[in-house]
This record gives sequence, C-alpha cells and structure tokens, in this order.
Amino acid sequence: MTKVFLNGKFVNKEDALISPMDRGFLFGDGIYEVIPCQNGRPIGLGLHLARMNDGLKEIEINYIATADEWLKNIEQLISQFSSTSVAVYIHISRGADSKRSHAYSNNVTPTVFAYGFEIVPSQTVDRNQAKGFKVITTQDLRWQRCHIKSTSLLGAVMHFQQAQDAQKDEVILYNDAGHITEAATCNVFVIKDGIIMTPKLGNHLLSGITRKILLSSLAKVGGFSVLEQDITLAQLEDADEVWLTSSTKEVGAVVKIDEKTLGDGKAGPMWERAQTAFNRYKFSL
Ligand code: PDD
Repeated sequence: MTKVFLNGKFVNKEDALISPMDRGFLFGDGIYEVIPCQNGRPIGLGLHLARMNDGLKEIEINYIATADEWLKNIEQLISQFSSTSVAVYIHISRGADSKRSHAYSNNVTPTVFAYGFEIVPSQTVDRNQAKGFKVITTQDLRWQRCHIKSTSLLGAVMHFQQAQDAQKDEVILYNDAGHITEAATCNVFVIKDGIIMTPKLGNHLLSGITRKILLSSLAKVGGFSVLEQDITLAQLEDADEVWLTSSTKEVGAVVKIDEKTLGDGKAGPMWERAQTAFNRYKFSL
C-alpha cells in the first residue's frame, strides 16, 4: 500500500485525513512544489525548497522547509517505486481553522502533505524520437501573482483544460500587451536564428526551476546566445523552435502552435543541444 507523508508521519494513502476546515481545501490557501527525482536523486532540491520557502514567507505561512528533513522524506517516498523517474509533490497549506474566514490568523498550524508519483523518464536526445508537443495560444486570464507557486490553481486548470478540449498538450499564454507569459504548467523558450529567448521573470510567470537549470546549463556549456526579454505573440508564431520547460517534462519541444507546424514537425537541432546541456548539469545546481 502506498505511503504518503502527512504532518510528520508516513501513513497509508487511504488513512491520510485532512479536515474539511483546512484552508487549503476552502481557499486554495497554500504553496506547493513538484520535485523530480531520477535514479533516486532529486533534481534541484535546494532550488525547489528555496522557492517554496519564499512563497510561504510571501503569503505568511509559518513553516520553513529544510533540505535535511526533506531529503529524508523524499528518499522514503520514492523508495516505494520501482521506476527510476519519480516526482514528489509537496503541499503546505495554512492549516485547519475553526471557522471559515478569508482573513487568516497566526494560530493555525500548517498542514504538510507530500506524496510520490511516477513521471515520464528523461527523453533520449534524438530529435527523431523526441515527443513533440502541440499547443494552442490564448490570452492569459490568470491572476497577477503567478510568481507564487500557489495551490490556488483554478486559472491554470481552466487554461489547461482549454488545451485538452482542443486535443492539444499545452496552452501558451500571452498578456494584454501581447507578450508571452508562460504555459499553463511550464515556462516557454522561443528560438529564432540561433537566439534563445525566454520571458524575463516577474509577477506574470513562475520562476521555473527547470528554466533556471537550463539557463545555467547553457551558460556552463557556452556558445549559446540567450536573452531574457519580452517576446511577442508574433515572435512566437515566427519561431524556428519553441520549448516548454517543467520539472516533469525537462525540455519539451513544441512542434505545432495552433494550426502552424514548426520546421519539419519534429524537435529541432537546437533542442538537441539544449536537452544535452541540461542533462549534463541538471544534478549540479
Ligand atoms: N508545474 N509555470 C507554471 C505555471 C508551472 O505550473 C510550472 C510547473 C512551471 C515550471 O516550473 P518548474 O520548472 O519549477 O517545474 C512554470 C508543475 C510541474 C506542476 O504544477 O505540476
């Protein structure tokens, strides 16, 4: 039976009980992380925990995650799987209060939950074999605090469902100014004439750990032109390659945007170089 982590204990998933008065349930009042692990090793653990602690501080939840404690918890959770590719979901909600009130008090104890789940293994770096992602584009109708990895995900859920309803894998979002923000569950990279561009960080997108590891890996390998800047919808449509990055996808190549096929309809040559760089350095941040 699968064990999950709840408030300091490993318990059977069926026995993990959370109060309906939990503010995570009532308000989506919490912070989460998804930490990928390969061959028993977490990728970017320190970066994930630092982002989680930043989010908890920003929304004033009184909990600080430490690497020692979480490394042990993660090892225990992933040891239950035979697969070498597993992710751990961590969810810290503000906790259960006695009454439902939008205002929060300091007297509630955070609820800490985590569980492991299998993810797709890292792809072979071969553009002829790589999965090609098909995406739609739409106006970003989420909120103005997308830098917080909040468990309030209804905006993302609704956008992702738009992609599913269109039988596509993802949706790339643009803001009122016509600038790309990110996708419903990933960051976005746009490649044109050998230049790798990605939207600069701000409150309109999540500071993705995969994005960060990829940027750092490209810099370590060297020889890439990389720009963090505004990217228009027109630039996206005119791109040579487009990539999606996330903890569960690593670097994913987009092959179709709305009705337009990119290049020859396969992952591109720059994708091969980027995923190779990522693989080389992914455990070193
Ligand atoms: N999604 N942007 C959004 C809106 C995301 O939800 C995610 C991750 C990312 C990529 O972040 P990272 O590289 O740190 O995984 C960008 C996770 C995987 C999820 O919600 O399941």
